[in-house]
Amino acid sequence: MKDNLVVFYSRSGHTRRLAQLLAVRLDADLDEIHELNPRRGLLGLARCLYDVLFGREPPITAATEPPQTYARVIVGGPVWADHVAGPVRSYLTRHADELRRVAFFCSCAHGGGQALADMASLCEREPDAVLAVTEAEFERGAAAAIDAFVSALQQAAAAQTLTAPSRERAA
Ligand SMILES: Cc1cc2nc3c(=O)[nH]c(=O)nc-3n(C[C@H](O)[C@H](O)[C@H](O)COP(=O)(O)O)c2cc1C
Repeated sequence: MKDNLVVFYSRSGHTRRLAQLLAVRLDADLDEIHELNPRRGLLGLARCLYDVLFGREPPITAATEPPQTYARVIVGGPVWADHVAGPVRSYLTRHADELRRVAFFCSCAHGGGQALADMASLCEREPDAVLAVTEAEFERGAAAAIDAFVSALQQAAAAQTLTAPSRERAA
């Protein structure tokens, strides 16, 4: 089993840059969520809000990397109207039963709102760590927040390795 997979959706590129950085820092594989109907122009923006308002799960393409083959899947996307973006909702709902450990991250203009809590609720998992980064923070490097996120994930993985043998004995 492989260690970490970073999965992300990005409409305008900010989450993609954050995801790429996290994948490098965690030595993780990377998989992008693609929509069947990409969002362009004003109509695309309106669809973002419509999807959030009605909790829609817009159609997405099949995942390139099978999440069930990873010990942990780190899922991220932009914040839309204080909530998780529709395509991330679609991914988490589709793969909820295949995820083992999880962590979540989001890119936003001013704050994560409910997006990270939405993600936990959609896949019914407590995350090992969460990260919300504004675009302005990311432009400044967001070093402290990203370091803390990576460190929390590394510690959770180490704790999991330490506790795994005792769980196996108990089974
Ligand atoms: C429809 C829509 C709604 C948004 N709502 C919020 C919001 O409630 N809070 C926030 O901080 N940013 C909000 N944003 C800004 C995005 O979360 C932010 O630009 C994010 O970095 C975009 O990521 P992306 O480039 O990966 O798509 C919204 C953007 C869009 C398009």
